[in-house]
Amino acid sequence: MIVALNNKSNFTKEEFIKYLDELSTIETKHKIILCPTSVNIALFDIDNVSLGAQNVSNNLAGAHTGEVNADQLESFKVKYCLVGHSERREEQHITSKDTNKKIKQLLDNHITPILCVGETKEQRVHKNYRAVIREELLTAIKDLEEEEIKRIIIAYEPIYSIGTGIVPTNDEIIEVLNIIKKILPDNKILYGGSANEDNIDTLKEIKEIDGFLLGGLSLEVEKLKLFLEKI
Ligand code: PGA
Repeated sequence: MIVALNNKSNFTKEEFIKYLDELSTIETKHKIILCPTSVNIALFDIDNVSLGAQNVSNNLAGAHTGEVNADQLESFKVKYCLVGHSERREEQHITSKDTNKKIKQLLDNHITPILCVGETKEQRVHKNYRAVIREELLTAIKDLEEEEIKRIIIAYEPIYSIGTGIVPTNDEIIEVLNIIKKILPDNKILYGGSANEDNIDTLKEIKEIDGFLLGGLSLEVEKLKLFLEKI
């Protein structure tokens, strides 16, 4: 399984160095991808985990203050990058068109995009979540070659589940995974949203899942180890 760790905006330099020390003790058959805060990428120095990023610029190098571009990420040996995380869609007003530009930048630089899609509680209640997921996927892959599309990892993250402790039922998750699979039958799909060492026994019954995207749990290495033992 693939387990991607989203540190979000956490860990000072010293805290991150200590955290890396702890992460380096993980022994597992699963593929672990660590997505640290961008300044901490430069400190990454362990080899039992792959390196990811949490964001990439829509653009090439140039006059884009505050942005980190795909070429720079590649030069720091970043192999994966989250795209379209709901916190960036909400707080930074990233659109699906932006995710399409970011994915192109990443693929051009040999970095695997991890495209996050998911609906709000309101969209679920109003039953337009299927259309939301389809739009997020179809806009993100627009004008890409078939071979490029296959390289993208999808992370299904219901927004109401992120950091809340609320996890949808397996049937609810499976329904959305099947919507994704109808559009992208060959892509790996992760589930994200309050996944932890307590609910993993239920989540792992979903055979359509290829792995998990972990936020809160990524910060607690002992609990993460328990989680990895259970999958
Ligand atoms: P969570 O976050 O595991 O804390 O819910 C997941 C994510 O936002 O990627």
